[in-house]
Formats: sequence, structure tokens, C-alpha cells
Amino acid sequence: MTWTPSPMPSATPNSSPPRIVLGVAGGIAAYKSVELLRRLRDAGYHVAPILTPDATRFVGAVTFSALASEPARTDLFGDATTPIPHTSLGQSADLVVVAPATAHLIARYAMGLADDLLCATLLATRAPVLLCPAMHTEMWEQPSVQENVATLRRRGVLVLEPATGPLAGGDAGTGRMPEPDDIFMLIERIVRGYRGPLSGRHVLISAGGTREPIDPVRVITNRSSGRQGYALAEVAHRLGARVTLVTTVDLPLALDTVRSIDVVAVQTAAELHAAMLQRTDDADCVIMAAAVADFTVEASDEKLKRHLGVPQLDFVATKDVLGDLVARRHPGQVIVGFAAETSDVVAQALAKLRAKGVDLLVVNDVAAPHVGFEHATNEVTLLDRHEVAETVSLRSKAAISLAILTRVASLLSQGAT
Ligand code: CTP
Repeated sequence: MTWTPSPMPSATPNSSPPRIVLGVAGGIAAYKSVELLRRLRDAGYHVAPILTPDATRFVGAVTFSALASEPARTDLFGDATTPIPHTSLGQSADLVVVAPATAHLIARYAMGLADDLLCATLLATRAPVLLCPAMHTEMWEQPSVQENVATLRRRGVLVLEPATGPLAGGDAGTGRMPEPDDIFMLIERIVRGYRGPLSGRHVLISAGGTREPIDPVRVITNRSSGRQGYALAEVAHRLGARVTLVTTVDLPLALDTVRSIDVVAVQTAAELHAAMLQRTDDADCVIMAAAVADFTVEASDEKLKRHLGVPQLDFVATKDVLGDLVARRHPGQVIVGFAAETSDVVAQALAKLRAKGVDLLVVNDVAAPHVGFEHATNEVTLLDRHEVAETVSLRSKAAISLAILTRVASLLSQGAT
């Protein structure tokens, strides 16, 4: 029989799908692993099944091969193309799941035995390991089994508690393998949280208020503190993105992010324009959180003197950074704009959304209490291209960032516009 991979329905463009090794040990719950495999494949995971020889007494390897991303393996010694499969499978895995994990498998893993492909792969991986035990209640409650489970948990292995319900042979009790949907949701949390929904993405963010010099001493600026832009950068990093932060202010970044975020210091609208346009081609998402001056002046080389009287400042328009970013947008790129309004917020925001051509407009009513400039909290409305509004109620700027970036991740996974 020739093996054909099943289609990959929801793999995101520009990023390889997370790789799961699905280990199956010899228990009756092995049939439920087929359903788990199908759920994982539907969600876009790359799944490589490994069956122990005993598992094949319950479910055939062909069943797994037909649904998986690569043929199911059962043999420690591989074939001509992959002579030592346990190392390649172990090293490339983002997560190793064993479902069901029998008492025998758990004991062999706790002892560090490598006498079949699954146990050898468990020893050859640095990826997180999730065991889903399934056995009769008496076996699960044996001190030997409980001690092996405790040993593995102490070493950082995730061991799911078995469910209570009908067991093989008409018995009932604790020891049932949790339902494939529950295991699937746990895997989603481990893997997507572990890699993050913005994994493999480059997010370019601007922050702070621009500073337009009048003379060597004075500037025209605005009340933007940069805190929302910094929070966006930190949260984007935690969600797995590579982050570039173009900023007019120098705020402290959280310790877990400070070494990873690429910070570009700018002052004026012209500098911010140049810095953003220079980096946009490489970005999957651009977020214009900065408050950019709409007008600037020709700065005097020397300090303006009071005794020379009230100076005449001739304002000239700055470039529209967002407009130029949108004009240069590449396919699939997501562009997010901000709108700070003080009156007639909804109508102003809708007009701005239509004028700017962004994928998402984050609207602030900066006249409201605890909102916008200089506050630690914010309340925003997210307006999408279809003019659908979602209000994100008052919360920390980090929590606001999470709401914005969750929408960004979803737009990116849909291929944006
Ligand atoms: N923006 C920009 N370049 C400018 C001015 C603003 O890229 N020269 C961006 C801001 O970063 C923000 C969005 O445009 O993401 C909206 O900024 P805002 O000041 O609210 O809108 P304006 O277009 O300047 O309109 P107005 O000030 O008249 O409300």
C-alpha cells in the first residue's frame, strides 16, 4: 500500500506547524488515540506516530499512517532513509505525547530503558513530554505505579490524571484515558503557549510621542507616555514574536523581554517615518501606537531669545507614517493603527478607519477617566475592516495588548486581507 499524507488544513503561512510525536502504548485506549491524531491533524499539527509492538495488537499501524503526517513507526532500527529514528524524532519534536501510557510504559520510562522506539525517543528528546495514563484502577493505585508517576513528575514530565468511568471488561473506576478532546485542548495550551500564537512572526511597533525641536533647547511634543506601545512589545514577545520597537521614549522593559526586543530610538516624526518605513517590508504586523506630530517647524540653530519677542513659528505638515505604511503593505501583512479621540468618538473613529485603510483601528476615548495618555490602564474599541466594533473594557495596558495581539494573531492566521 502506498502512503499518502492527509491534507494540512490550517497550517499558518510562513511558519512550520508544531511537531508532535504521538506515542501509543499497548492498551485498549489505543483506539482513542486515532481520534486524537485526527484532531491534531485538523488543527494543523505535524504528527509522527510511534506505536509500541503491543499497541499494534490493539490498533493497526496502517490506521495511524493513513491519518498522520508521516508513516507510523514501530521499529527501533528504522529503515534505509532514517536508520536511527528515535534521535531524529526526539530532536525535532515540539511535544511528545504518550496516549495511552500503560503501567509498563511508565515503568520503563521512569527507569530510563530504551528497549523500543517509543522509550528510546522519550530519552532522546528535550521537548516537553505529556503522558496520558490508562489502566485498570487496581494498577493505577499500585504504589509502584504511583511512585513511577511521582518520579516522572519530579523530572518535569506532565502526567495527566486518568478519568473515572467505564473501563475495559465491564469494570468501572479511575484509570480511563481522558477523552481525546480534553487531551487535544491540553496539547493546544502546552504547544501554542509554549511557542506562542505569534511564533515565527516579526512585529514592528512604534511607541511614544514624537518631539519636534523648535531650537536646540525646546521641543513640541504631546502627552503620549509610550506605555501602551511598550506593553504591546512585551506581550508580543511573550506570544512568541520577534519584536522591533521604534520609540521616542526610554522606558524600562520587563526583564524577560529586555534582551530580545530590538529597540530603535527616534525623536522626530521624520525619524520615526524613516525607521518604520525601513523595517516594514520585513514585518508580518505593524502597529502604529506612537502619537506622531501632524505638524513640525523649521528648527532654529540657536536658542530663541525672549528679548527678541514672540517667535513666528511656521508649521509644515509631517508625513503620514501610517498612510505610507499602508501604501507599501505586502500581501498578508497586518497593519494596526491607533486613534486618540476626545469627542464624537465613534463617528471620528469610523471616518479614520475608512481613511487609513488599516486592518484594525484601536480607538481610545482619551477624555474618559483612567484611559489613554499617562495612565497605567486603558479602555479601547477595536474596529476591524468590516467596521465591526469590539469594546475591550478598562484593564491594564498589558491586558489591552493581549486583546489586540490575539486579534492580530487571528488575522495573520487567516492570511490577513
Ligand atoms: N499617524 C501617523 N503619522 C502621522 C500622524 C498620525 O502614522 N503623521 C498615525 C498614528 O500613529 C495613529 C494614527 O495615525 O496610529 C492616527 O493618529 P491620529 O493622530 O489619531 O490621527 P490623525 O490622522 O493625525 O488625525 P487627527 O489628528 O486629525 O485626529
